[in-house]
Amino acid sequence: MTEEQIYEKLKNRLGKIMPDFELREKAKIAAEIEVLKKERNAVILGHNYMEPALFNSVPDFTGDSLELSRKAADADADVIVFCGVKFMAETAKILSPDKTVLLPAKVAGCSLASSITAEDVRQLKKQFPGVPVVTYINTYADVKAECDMCCTSGNAKAVVESLDSEAVIFLPDEYLAKNVALETNKRIIFPTHEPHDAQPSDVLDYQMIGWHGKCEVHDQFRVEDIENARRQFPGVKVLAHPECPPEICQACDFTGSTSAMITYVQDQPTGTKFLLMTECSMADNIAAENPDKEMVSVCSVRCPHMNEITLEETRDALKYNQQIIELDEDVRVKAKKSVDRMLEIGPSGTFSNAYGDGKS
Ligand code: 13P
Ligand code: SF4
Repeated sequence: MTEEQIYEKLKNRLGKIMPDFELREKAKIAAEIEVLKKERNAVILGHNYMEPALFNSVPDFTGDSLELSRKAADADADVIVFCGVKFMAETAKILSPDKTVLLPAKVAGCSLASSITAEDVRQLKKQFPGVPVVTYINTYADVKAECDMCCTSGNAKAVVESLDSEAVIFLPDEYLAKNVALETNKRIIFPTHEPHDAQPSDVLDYQMIGWHGKCEVHDQFRVEDIENARRQFPGVKVLAHPECPPEICQACDFTGSTSAMITYVQDQPTGTKFLLMTECSMADNIAAENPDKEMVSVCSVRCPHMNEITLEETRDALKYNQQIIELDEDVRVKAKKSVDRMLEIGPSGTFSNAYGDGKS
């Protein structure tokens, strides 16, 4: 696409939320990226939380963590530029070791990924010998390497249900674990770090063992936010990511991965209003693609880590070959087993909200 074509596309989609001079500037950078992309035979993957100008211009594929993992595995390119946070770029490297994987940000961490270390997992395995370990994809490669299987928000329930085991260790998101436990009718416990504090008994009175990691974005939403929105905007549909606390998921109309929420919005009738209990750039991106739907903007929380990735950083990543994701080969091979086992599971098992009545 030429700079003018990109500008027209951005204007059409984002003209209501971004001033014209900014759209022109962003189109210029996006056009530079298009040239670099061809020169380097690169593919750009963009997570649904990317800022609107980036999300709506350069990515060859957009999606949630699961969809982007699959795209990374199939990518027919020399270079993968991962417009998402570091653990996502690491997953691309785990699956495509021969490709150059670039993260267009200096750090782009994640409060969930930094909540647990490989040593923590080794300790848990000592406490609960023989219990399979599932890790949410929001973890670093060395943690994945210690686990049996990965999951994402799009398949967490299906992954847990696929295991033929009395109990499962589910790391590191406390709320996702609680939401999966509710969905699968399992009792969950949260042991502390100290081995003597855990009481694994011969008779299991639990089926899930969780960890106290939290997403710093989804932890900020409150049930009162939903109540206020329902009072102000009768008929509003409330959607939540399963990284939200269970009481939020129970009070909303639909719980699902970022892409599942996008599909839910697309399927609702024209004129429907939505409140999204998730990262706020996604609401802008959904609004841009669904001009016939309304987004209520009373809860607006931006992920500071996702916010590090911009069009400027993406251009520089391709131009200066930075920041290259490197992984220890032994760690990568072990982590790949966990990711591969997950990819063998279909994308089914999204949250049904069977436990939520949609009323707070
Ligand atoms: P999804 O897999 O649903 O895209 O979520 C990733 C994430 O980091 C949510 O905070
Ligand atoms: Fe991590 Fe939360 Fe940001 Fe997602 S939104 S990347 S879980 S901190």
